[in-house]
Amino acid sequence: HSDITNKDDVALKEDLDAAQHQLDKNAAYANKMFEALLEQYPLSPRSLYGKARALDILAEKKQSNDLLYEALTFYARVLNAPKVPDRLFIISAERHIDRARFMGQYKKAIAVHWQIIDRFPDNSTYLNNLAVTYLTVNLVEEARSVLKKVISKWPNDGFALVHYGFILKTVDNNLEEAIQYMSKGLRTEAAGVVDGRFYFHLGDALTRVNRKDEADKLYEEGVEKKVFRSKYQRSLYNVDRLPAKPWLNPKDVPSYQTLFAALVENSKQIRQEGLSALNDQGYFQDEAENLKDSGTWKQLELFARGRKFAKNCERTPITCSVIERFPEASRCKRGQTKFSVLHPGTHVWPHCGPTNCRLRIHLGLKIPADVFLRVAEETRGWKEGDIIMFDDSFEHEVWHNGTEFRLVLIVDVWHPNLTSMEKQSLSAI
Ligand code: LMR
Ligand code: MN
Repeated sequence: HSDITNKDDVALKEDLDAAQHQLDKNAAYANKMFEALLEQYPLSPRSLYGKARALDILAEKKQSNDLLYEALTFYARVLNAPKVPDRLFIISAERHIDRARFMGQYKKAIAVHWQIIDRFPDNSTYLNNLAVTYLTVNLVEEARSVLKKVISKWPNDGFALVHYGFILKTVDNNLEEAIQYMSKGLRTEAAGVVDGRFYFHLGDALTRVNRKDEADKLYEEGVEKKVFRSKYQRSLYNVDRLPAKPWLNPKDVPSYQTLFAALVENSKQIRQEGLSALNDQGYFQDEAENLKDSGTWKQLELFARGRKFAKNCERTPITCSVIERFPEASRCKRGQTKFSVLHPGTHVWPHCGPTNCRLRIHLGLKIPADVFLRVAEETRGWKEGDIIMFDDSFEHEVWHNGTEFRLVLIVDVWHPNLTSMEKQSLSAI
C-alpha cells in the first residue's frame, strides 16, 4: 500500500490497513472504522478513500442509490484532499467516473475526467477516456475535439485514431478520411483498438469506395482477431453457440412451420394491405440506416424490439393480427416485422445485421423481374406468395435492376436454438 499512503497517512497505517482488511468481510464495520479515523484526521486521503469504498460496497449490497451517491462524494473528497498520492488519486477518480456513469450522472463523471487530465496532462489515456464518455452520451462534437487534441499531440495514438475515424465515418460519412484514420489506428494494435466496430466500419468504408478486396482482407483479419464469427457473418451482438448458415430452407426449421403456413395462407390479404398502405402517402418511411447506395427503399414498421407499432397496425390490421399469433416474431426483441418496398434502380450496399439471434423471413408480395438478393456467396430471388429465409447477420446485398417496384413483408424471428431464458434476458436491438 506504499503507493497509496502519503507521509501523514504513514503514521496511521496500521489502523488504515486494519480497516481496509474489514472491507471485504464486513463493510458496515469497516465504514465505522474509517469514520472514526476521519473524525481525527478529516483530510487523510486513505481514510476518505476507505470510507468511499465501504459506502460503495454497501451500496452494491443494499442496491442503494443513496449510499452510492454518498460514496461518490467521498471519492470526490479524495481528489480534493491535500497531498494525495498519484495512485490513490487515479483509482478514486476512475471508480468515481465508473459509478457516476452507472448512475447516469454524466456531468459529474466529466468533471472528474477533467480533474485527472489536469493532473496528468501528458497521458493521452485520460483524454481518450473522456472522449469515450462523451460518445456514450452522444456529445459527438465534444468527443471529436478531445480526440483531435490527442492526435495533434500524439499522432500515432491508435485509440484516438480509430475513434476519430469512427466519427468521420458514422457521423460525417467522410469515407476517405475515415479510412485513413481507422486503418492507421488499427495497425497500431494498441489497447482498445481491436474492436469489432472498427473492423466493421473500416470494411464498410472500403467497400463503398470500391475497395471491396481490401475490405474482405480486413474481414479475414477480423476473424483471426476473433471480432467476427466469420468473413461473412459480422454481427457484433452474438450468442456464441448458435449455429448459423446464410440461407435456410424453411422446411429445416420445424418449430416455425405454423408461422410459415400462416404467412403463405394470408399472403393475398397481406399483399392487399401492403399495397394499399403504399398508396396512401406518408405511411412508408425511407430506410434510415444509411445502407443504400442508390435508388429508393422504404419501409412500414409493424413490430420492432418486441413491440407493436399500434399506429401502423391500424393501417394493416390483418397482417398484424397474423404476426401477433406468433410471439417468436411479434415478441422478437432483436428484430422487426415490416413491409419493405424497393424501387427500380436501387442498390443496397453489402451489409450485416447487428445480431445472430434472429433469422429473417421475406414473404414475397409483389415481385417483378430482375431483383436480386445476395447472402454471403449465393444470390436468389423471391416468389409471390412464398417465403424465403436467411440469416441477416451474414453479409447481404440487394439490386433492383427491374422496372417495377418490389414489395415484401420482412418477418424476423428468434433464432430457434435460443432458450426461453435467453429470449427473456437478451437486450433489445
Ligand atoms: C435486407 O434485409 O437488408 C434487405 O433484404 C431488405 C429488403 O427489403 O430486401
Ligand atoms: Mn439488411
